[in-house]
Amino acid sequence: MNATPPATSAPLAVVTGASGALGAAIHTRLTRAGWQVVATYRTRPPARDQRQDGTSWVRFDAAEDASTTALRQAVDACPGRLHAVFACVGAPSTKQAVADTGVSEFDAVHQANVVSFVRTWHAVAARARRDGASVLATGSDAGQAARAHNGPYTAAKAALASLVITLAKEELQHGVRVNLLAPSLIDSPLARHVMALKGVTDPDAYYTQLPWGRPLALDEVAATCIELATAAHWSYATGQIYPLAAAL
Ligand SMILES: NC(=O)c1ccc[n+]([C@@H]2O[C@H](COP(=O)([O-])OP(=O)(O)OC[C@H]3O[C@@H](n4cnc5c(N)ncnc54)[C@H](OP(=O)(O)O)[C@@H]3O)[C@@H](O)[C@H]2O)c1
Repeated sequence: MNATPPATSAPLAVVTGASGALGAAIHTRLTRAGWQVVATYRTRPPARDQRQDGTSWVRFDAAEDASTTALRQAVDACPGRLHAVFACVGAPSTKQAVADTGVSEFDAVHQANVVSFVRTWHAVAARARRDGASVLATGSDAGQAARAHNGPYTAAKAALASLVITLAKEELQHGVRVNLLAPSLIDSPLARHVMALKGVTDPDAYYTQLPWGRPLALDEVAATCIELATAAHWSYATGQIYPLAAAL
């Protein structure tokens, strides 16, 4: 992993959804490596000790115009070059058939997974273009797998993947890279919540049925996100969807 920013420029990154499991893992790795971070939460503000690591915390809700402004202002207040943006906001479906899923759930899941990314870009675009930043969005293997009983999430992650490719084409001229990592199941509170919705009562037994007999670990996904966004040997890549799963 290459999480260490070049010594000649200020290490600044944006992590949206940093109150969530993956965003927190990315945030922790970045701050330990000396990065300055603008981090967002929606309903779970950081604990007192998390406020003391030099991170600028911003309340960010995909439904609110004010959140775009707040995130832009927080980024503008930070000196140095914006190297990377990690878009980790997301929300699951209730795992029902499309016929049984309300339109409001499709709206809410789309808002969390797709509109949040649009707002993030609106907030950081000017700075990202000026600084030649790298953007890494968090998708899911669900976006391609299109399994039954996951319509809102599948549709939202597929839309996010298309948006990432579109944005990469638009921003290439500005030296901005935009990619998406699409992990499979990560050992996380979200995964346990989703398994419960699916009626899984024994997560450990469920995990043993996965290709490697285990889910992804949060820290290995966080490390992959950081490497894809910041390592020199990934600097050619843009407009790419990277699965992180066992192809079985
Ligand atoms: N966990 C998995 O197994 C898995 C697998 C593949 C892909 N993913 C994707 O990876 C990303 C991170 O997952 P995670 O496990 O870290 O999820 P998580 O723990 O549920 O975190 C979700 C984050 O998104 C924020 N958020 C949710 N709805 C929002 C909205 N409408 N507007 C603004 N912020 C909102 C939450 O803020 P608050 O908590 O402060 O409200 C939280 O920071 C998601 O995009 C998810 O779809 C997860």
